[in-house]
Amino acid sequence: MTPWVIISLALVTWTMGNASITDKPEDVVDNNIPPATAKTIVETAVEEIMETGELNPNHYPARRAANVVQHYINSRYGSPFKVFILHEVHSGNSEDVANSGRKYQLEISVQEMLSNSTHKCTAEVLFPRGERQGPPEVQVSCEELEKLNTTKEDEALYQKLKTRTSMLSAQNLPDSHGRIDPEMKPLRHLGIVASSFIMLQESNENTLYNMAQIGNVTQLATKADELKFDYFVLLHDMVSQEILRWNLQISWSPQEGVKILQQEKLPHCHECKVPPAIRE
Ligand SMILES: *[C@@H]1O[C@H](CO)[C@@H](O)[C@H](O)[C@H]1NC(C)=O
Ligand SMILES: *[C@@H]1O[C@H](CO)[C@@H](O)[C@H](O)[C@H]1NC(C)=O
Ligand SMILES: *[C@@H]1O[C@H](CO)[C@@H](O)[C@H](O)[C@H]1NC(C)=O
Repeated sequence: MTPWVIISLALVTWTMGNASITDKPEDVVDNNIPPATAKTIVETAVEEIMETGELNPNHYPARRAANVVQHYINSRYGSPFKVFILHEVHSGNSEDVANSGRKYQLEISVQEMLSNSTHKCTAEVLFPRGERQGPPEVQVSCEELEKLNTTKEDEALYQKLKTRTSMLSAQNLPDSHGRIDPEMKPLRHLGIVASSFIMLQESNENTLYNMAQIGNVTQLATKADELKFDYFVLLHDMVSQEILRWNLQISWSPQEGVKILQQEKLPHCHECKVPPAIRE
């Protein structure tokens, strides 16, 4: 939107506001545009022009970029006992970078789901444009992530799964009532972390991905040190409301972390539904 439009919208507001004061007693408020609505119109206009520069931390542009940081942190630090979600966007700025894309600078905090600890992070996200293609490029530095030591829990799960005689498998985490067997929670968390790799890779400025459900997961037999799993996951893009299905083969060990071995995007699923929020 051009500055001219903003000025004229501001003028409309001013005129309407004045009209109500001069033409009528002050306690009668029957404008066609209530002051609050007029104010919203002006704010919306200002927000669009401010797409470059300071961002409203509660609006989509800042939140979409912050969501990408969440996926990046999971792909770097996540484990069955360490999963990060976006807690709050404190501030954000964006700018066009000549020939390469759009850069967001953010102050955010993330929450680790299992310990409930929150961590402040400073992050930079570049969404490539034009000749420069590919997933968003992220740089982030967070307070005290290294203090989150889940080695013991991860190791115990690893040993339990490594020594199983039959391979573990599960369906619908959570189920259509939002329920999840507590024993399966670590497998769900591992699925969220694995999905974060895909959500990071698939994100752009117009997406806001969330892991909706694990359709199924099967542990695969392997002689390697790392455990292997086959996941079918449903990802939800909250902007387009599309549900995407992916098949992922991953490996995990406490030492090596999570790695994506194979990934395949499956055809659209029209009957797929996002299950309700998990009931803990
Ligand atoms: C984290 O928060 C949830 C819900 O608020 C609570 O049930 C759980 O016990 C908390 N966990 C820790 C480790 O504090
Ligand atoms: C985590 O704790 C274990 C002992 O419980 C220790 O051996 C390991 O070095 C710690 N790791 C980090 C990164 O602090
Ligand atoms: C997992 O779900 C996919 C997609 O719906 C299906 O093709 C596959 O057979 C399922 N695997 C198991 C083990 O249930």
